Amino acid sequence: MTTIFSDISELYTPFERIEDPALVVEDGQITWLGAQRDLPPEFSGFTPVSLGKRGVLPGFVDSHTHLVWAGSRLDEYLQRARGESYEAILEAGGGIYNTVHATQRAGEDALFELAGMRAATFQEGGVSTLEVKSGYGLELEDELKMLRVIQRLDAALPQRFVATLLAHVIPKGWERTAYLEMFCAELIPEVKRAGLAEAVDVFCDRGAFTLAETEQIFTAALDHGLAIKAHAEQIEHTGATQLVARMGGLSADHLEQSRADDWQALAAAGAVATLLPGATVILRKPFPDARTMQAAGVKIAVATDHNPGSSPLYSMVLAMQLATALGGLSVEDALIAGTAHAADALGRPTLGRLAVGSPADFVVVQQERALAPFYSWGNHQIDSLYVAGKKHRQPDL
Ligand code: NIG
Ligand code: FE
Repeated sequence: MTTIFSDISELYTPFERIEDPALVVEDGQITWLGAQRDLPPEFSGFTPVSLGKRGVLPGFVDSHTHLVWAGSRLDEYLQRARGESYEAILEAGGGIYNTVHATQRAGEDALFELAGMRAATFQEGGVSTLEVKSGYGLELEDELKMLRVIQRLDAALPQRFVATLLAHVIPKGWERTAYLEMFCAELIPEVKRAGLAEAVDVFCDRGAFTLAETEQIFTAALDHGLAIKAHAEQIEHTGATQLVARMGGLSADHLEQSRADDWQALAAAGAVATLLPGATVILRKPFPDARTMQAAGVKIAVATDHNPGSSPLYSMVLAMQLATALGGLSVEDALIAGTAHAADALGRPTLGRLAVGSPADFVVVQQERALAPFYSWGNHQIDSLYVAGKKHRQPDL
């Protein structure tokens, strides 16, 4: 099945801007992209689908979310807004543990419904691919339950979902070494056997896992053929970024406390630095100097870190806008960070770009200028999202 999209005012691949382009899509994949006037004659017999002289961007790739959760942390949010710290709440057994209790109690269907509704908001905001982590189950069965929910989201919803097993915190009532043994010797092998995740993430920080424990989990993950990544240098500097670089990880995420030597290690290894402006701003942490990081040769991605605690953020556009406003990235680089580099952070380098051989996942902007969403704060200016060449939202204007 061949579809030609025409009447596009401009398109960002995202590395290049093309004026008046046309897109040829066959079976969901881009097979030709170029200026409309150069469209090969073999396609002249087709009636093109007009995009109404609007701008087009690659579908956004949210490469770090915790979309599956139950309960609410509104009270904690109010407490933090009054000055209490995220770390103190976690140390007192609240925070992440609060969501763990609610998620453990919730049934698989209820979690699927909740995550599906959140995914619909991401869809309206132009997100075609979402990475989703487990990590609020902690116990073996509850972690598998979360991962099955992600698998169901991928099968049932228009967007693409990429699942990651997250070692988040040690559950209450477990001895550390016993939990690590369970995680590495039972959970990881079972996740691999059942095909429930592609990668393993570790929250390496105060109140979570140590650097040595992170290395132990990474080793088990790599032994089972799973990719690795980390929540790194968020609250304290732990060295997790350099561990990710040394062990061939996909990305180090957060990086609020990261330093120049961490950036050099990422650049040398070709690993992605994933910035999470939602968590940085909401927890009032220092914003990483993305521009200097980029100048050091680091490939930067931006994601929402959507979660019920540190980042109840539903907007990739806002995450990218904050990376520009607070991190100093140009708008064009923020777009690359939220599309192509984010896809690289997932080990899916054909996603997040509009190019021959890539799936036709794209955002149609309400304006002629494709970068209008970045200019318009609090009003994303997105007309519709196409995944694999299929439209998934009618403009309801
Ligand atoms: O990415 N930092 C650890 N994990 C999450 C927060 C999870 C939570 O607060 O529920 C994060 O920020
Ligand atoms: Fe996170």
